Amino acid sequence: MGNSTGGANPSTNNSIGSTGNTDNNGATAINEARVLIDPYHDWAEGENIPIHLDFGHNLLELETGPWGRYEARGCFAHTHGAGDFMSNYVLEVAPCNKTRPVKHLYEVFCYVLAGHGSTKVWLPSGETRVFEWGPQAVFAIPLNCQYQIFNSTSLESVRISCTNDAPITINLYHNIDFVFNNPFEFPERAGQSKHFDGEGDHTAYSHGNNAKRNVWETNFVHDLTSFKLYELEARGKGSMSMSFVLADGTMHAHVSQIPKGRYKKAHRHAAGTHVHAIDGSGYSLLWHEGDSEFKEFPWKHGFMYTPPFWMFHQHFNTCPNPARYLACSLGSRRYPFISLRRKSAEGAGSLSISQGGRQLEYEDQDPRIHRKWLEALRETGVTSEMGEIFDEPAILELPPEAMTGVIRQPRSIGPAI
Ligand SMILES: [Fe+2]
Repeated sequence: MGNSTGGANPSTNNSIGSTGNTDNNGATAINEARVLIDPYHDWAEGENIPIHLDFGHNLLELETGPWGRYEARGCFAHTHGAGDFMSNYVLEVAPCNKTRPVKHLYEVFCYVLAGHGSTKVWLPSGETRVFEWGPQAVFAIPLNCQYQIFNSTSLESVRISCTNDAPITINLYHNIDFVFNNPFEFPERAGQSKHFDGEGDHTAYSHGNNAKRNVWETNFVHDLTSFKLYELEARGKGSMSMSFVLADGTMHAHVSQIPKGRYKKAHRHAAGTHVHAIDGSGYSLLWHEGDSEFKEFPWKHGFMYTPPFWMFHQHFNTCPNPARYLACSLGSRRYPFISLRRKSAEGAGSLSISQGGRQLEYEDQDPRIHRKWLEALRETGVTSEMGEIFDEPAILELPPEAMTGVIRQPRSIGPAI
């Protein structure tokens, strides 16, 4: 028998799998192992719509294709920093058209990029809810409820960014019928009637000595550009924020506002936070500890990207108005799910890395960061409001040799998680 794994020893056979076939010589051939499977990506490939993969995207311009699952158009907007749990697809509904009713066992937050329409949701109680929305609205579908999206206009397509946790759900069960055709109902996730009308419940919490965090519980927010936010100065003077618990979900969302003439402090965290620019314009810088160059991602409404795992990122407003963004990730304030998210919810995201947190304070940051922003403001004609923090004339006079080398920052002390 020319095969060293041949059948003399039954225990050896079992250890390599017993599904081998016998070849012409009577030896047992070893079948190809079924390994390294990614059911989520296999499912995405099988949906037969465009799959875009990049650091970030302009979701308003991504090519879509006919999507049988929704009887509408769509594409996947995958990102390098999405991590293992989260993903995004874009849904496009033509004027005077509607999707097929759909339900699934993964959570989804729908952020309206363009167009006006409505959503119908079938609740476990047998009731239905219908709510109307326009650009910059966000809504969540209660878990496994059937829903249908309508374009109520005759001129403009509806475009919706659907941030979801399909990767963790599909990879966990790897049975598409279980995920998309499951009769189990979650009445506790349905939410109050007012939560579909744009109303909600405002609560707040603080952990230890950290700043108070505001939380708005609902299923639907009409307009993220005007929604009332609250101060969160720990992320930078003038920063405003509101965290959302949507449809009692495990996914998190928050809206932050960067004031005119200012920018936020850098920080880092787990992968998968899908950052959508809502209004205003500016850019984000990203870098890993030890890097010498910054990655730059410019943004305005329609742009979305995901800071990769543990990569520092910092958001800069360069426009003459406040700038808002929506961030969606796994691990809500209510259900943090992973220890890194629990630490964020407890305030580590706004605590200095020199104190065991994940934030770079202004006084610790590399001077290139402020210099670059001042140069960007020259282009837009906006005046810096940060002169009380930085010696801006000195930063503008920095010699070229001060603008190279490894990006400077204080030593990070643990534990990080
Ligand atoms: Fe972040």
